[in-house]
Amino acid sequence: MTGHQHLQELRLHVRQVRHEADDVVSIRFARRDDGELPAWEPGAHLEIRLPSRLIRQYSLCGAPDDRTGYTVAVLRAHDGRGGSAEIHDTALVGRELTVRGPRNDFPLLPAPSYTFVAGGIGITPILGMARAATSRSTAWSLHYGGRSARSMAFVPAIAELAAAAGAPVAVLPEDVHGLLDLDGIVAGAGDGGAVYACGPAPMLAALRTAVARRPDLTLHTELFTAPAPTPGDAAPHTAPDRHERDFTVVLAQTGETATVTDGCTILDAVRRLRPEVPYSCEEGFCGTCDTKVLSGTPVHRDTVLSENDRAGHTSMMICVGSCASDELVLDL
Ligand code: FES
Repeated sequence: MTGHQHLQELRLHVRQVRHEADDVVSIRFARRDDGELPAWEPGAHLEIRLPSRLIRQYSLCGAPDDRTGYTVAVLRAHDGRGGSAEIHDTALVGRELTVRGPRNDFPLLPAPSYTFVAGGIGITPILGMARAATSRSTAWSLHYGGRSARSMAFVPAIAELAAAAGAPVAVLPEDVHGLLDLDGIVAGAGDGGAVYACGPAPMLAALRTAVARRPDLTLHTELFTAPAPTPGDAAPHTAPDRHERDFTVVLAQTGETATVTDGCTILDAVRRLRPEVPYSCEEGFCGTCDTKVLSGTPVHRDTVLSENDRAGHTSMMICVGSCASDELVLDL
């Protein structure tokens, strides 16, 4: 999720908010005039600016050939930062919201066959992918785990799709069946196929280990929640707002400067000057605050950038990063 793709900004009308499962609602957006929306591919997400101005990203889960609406599904995160609670608790139908996108960091690439693995709300991008695989006439299977049957969204849509495609689908609530048998799923994947998975970090980590034993497979993953904290995360040097020493951030477009001190993130400092700067998770995993670095030595603490991206020091997640030089010049 790097680079600075130009995202189109749209003002869209919330047409429907529907209960899909316990703690899951879907939201349908359309143009006020019901006009055609920009095309999107499975795996794409929308950035939504909520009435409180929080920005959140959600995978599109409707049918890509329906150009009159965008649908996203939102899980209420009980320990989240308020975005999902705002969606669940605010009467949004009839309101107009600003959305940016669609942007696709999780595209479905051609493959001889697909094995889809979804954990919980991670079903949202996978649902569109299963539809696309069906229309490409590529064989696919789906393994869908969740806390309990009541918490699992889109089961009827999946059953319908599976029947139409003749695809094997396993819907396995954890309270009845336990965790997904990832080793078994990987062992059963078609030769040379692609495994697409979206779900919580421990599921993706276990899947990575299982796929490592099958070099013929390619694994594509998307995390839908913050990586589980590791014990080291609590250490002062890795906290998002801890810095070895104070440094200056320069916003190159205006020449304004701000000092970043211990206890304040770069994002905090930037927001005082640019309240509209986009951000979402504030934990370094969503990529919304990806900012171009023009000079200075960023210290990366996100889970978005690859080692290669980091080596170039050309951009950083300012919600969690720090700086090893006296000055950091950002393209803002
Ligand atoms: Fe999500 Fe910075 S706000 S990575």
